[in-house]
Amino acid sequence: MKEPKLSVSAIQNGTVIDHIPAKNLFKVIQILGLDHIDSQITFGTNLESKKLGRKAIIKISDKFFEDADINRIALVAPEAKLNIIRDYEVIEKKVVEVPDTIIGIARCMNPKCITNFESVVTRFRVVSKKLVSLRCHYCEKITSQENLQII
Ligand code: CTP
Ligand code: ZN
Repeated sequence: MKEPKLSVSAIQNGTVIDHIPAKNLFKVIQILGLDHIDSQITFGTNLESKKLGRKAIIKISDKFFEDADINRIALVAPEAKLNIIRDYEVIEKKVVEVPDTIIGIARCMNPKCITNFESVVTRFRVVSKKLVSLRCHYCEKITSQENLQII
């Protein structure tokens, strides 16, 4: 079923991030730093979605993200759709893409990795994007999709 138009009001200018898995809404908010910006933000969660079961949507007024920043949410919201709004019109739609490197966001699954016992920001090379697989920059161990833990 299509999202009922009134569940979250339309915005005049800004970015609408749709098709976020409801369980990861607050991770998306954290990854994009939405708790630290001055823009008006509205969101809805546990909305019905055929694809995701329960989805969330976030609308950020007067904010337009760089692709590199928005792609950081790909690990927690791989199906997210971005809608760029100008004067109430959707002028562009974008999908997110898993980036080549991931800084922060994920935990290294190697318990002996330095990132797990010192305050070092994690850093990975993405070796597979479909079924996400990350190689740690520090210990070179692979963290795969099923072991993926978001910090
Ligand atoms: N939207 C908004 N403010 C606007 C225009 C659109 O908040 N001024 C939101 C809509 O509520 C919707 C998303 O942006 O969640 C995409 O809008 P639109 O392309 O009109 O909707 P759909 O056809 O449902 O798009 P899709 O099927 O691609 O999700
Ligand atoms: Zn590691």
